[in-house]
Amino acid sequence: MSDLAGTVTIVTGGTSGLGAETAALFARRGVTVVIAGRRQEEGERTAARLGPSVHFHRTDVARETQVRELVESTHDRFGRLDCLVNNAGGGGTPGPVGELDLDAFAETLAVHVLGMAAGIKYAAAPMLAQGSGSIVNVASVGGSVAGWTPMDYSVAKAGVLQLTRCAAVELGERGIRVNSVSPGPIPTGIQLKLPGTDPALAERAAASLVPLFAAGLRPWQAIPRVGDPADVAATIAWLGGPDSSFVTGQDIAVDGGIRAGRPASVSVADYAALTTLTDQLAEHVVGSERA
Ligand SMILES: NC(=O)c1ccc[n+]([C@@H]2O[C@H](COP(=O)([O-])OP(=O)(O)OC[C@H]3O[C@@H](n4cnc5c(N)ncnc54)[C@H](OP(=O)(O)O)[C@@H]3O)[C@@H](O)[C@H]2O)c1
Repeated sequence: MSDLAGTVTIVTGGTSGLGAETAALFARRGVTVVIAGRRQEEGERTAARLGPSVHFHRTDVARETQVRELVESTHDRFGRLDCLVNNAGGGGTPGPVGELDLDAFAETLAVHVLGMAAGIKYAAAPMLAQGSGSIVNVASVGGSVAGWTPMDYSVAKAGVLQLTRCAAVELGERGIRVNSVSPGPIPTGIQLKLPGTDPALAERAAASLVPLFAAGLRPWQAIPRVGDPADVAATIAWLGGPDSSFVTGQDIAVDGGIRAGRPASVSVADYAALTTLTDQLAEHVVGSERA
């Protein structure tokens, strides 16, 4: 029997992508899961697909009252709350500094940072009463490394990393752990959900990103394969369960090594090219000195 069996978990942003994959893994391990998202039909369909232990609660995490309702109704219905996976969010707003849309920026912060803060605020109450609980926040490699993701998204995800540490040091003394995961690029609908794109269409088309990611990420990831939602779900489940009971306030990158540095074959070749150039320049300088 799984060591998660009989527990209760909320996964925000569980109607698709990484959240749905995480909910599926928890459900296979005997967990009662409440998935949350804004799309009623998609949410109900996903819950039905994942099985009878998965339930949908329509929630916009940017609305504090809806987050409170999500947590309280889950606790009322199932009598406990063991894990909250704060995963909901979109891809931010691309564009240069001079064209920043500050309303869109504020909305990104409202979903990714304030939505998570609300989740922690309300989940902490039943977890404190139980004396146990695990909160897992989904950040991004873009929260640590600039340039990979839009500015509003990167700033929001950097906020998620610090929110995680702040909550961890406060709640750890009272039995609640708080950690984050930082995925690298994983093919899901998020990359294709540009304004105006039907989300369901974007999610169906996500598989077509795999060959593009395989080619484009080769010079950046030490592990030469495309990341899969299951890679992220497995790390979330580990952080959510008792096997990580001495881990709190940490961020785990699930990025094939992007954050660690460029693959040695790439950086060694780049450095060799640079030293060839500097050797040539040195010869030129010495030559012109002699002339
Ligand atoms: N895929 C990647 O490469 C990657 C990399 C790093 C981090 N991440 C993070 O992983 C998380 C999940 O993304 P994904 O890749 O699985 O993309 P996805 O398939 O587009 O999933 C995003 C989920 O968030 C929900 N959502 C968005 N705004 C919401 C809101 N205001 N309230 C409630 N739910 C909301 C969406 O559901 P509704 O539309 O039904 O509301 C959907 O279930 C996000 O936080 C994202 O930033 C993804």
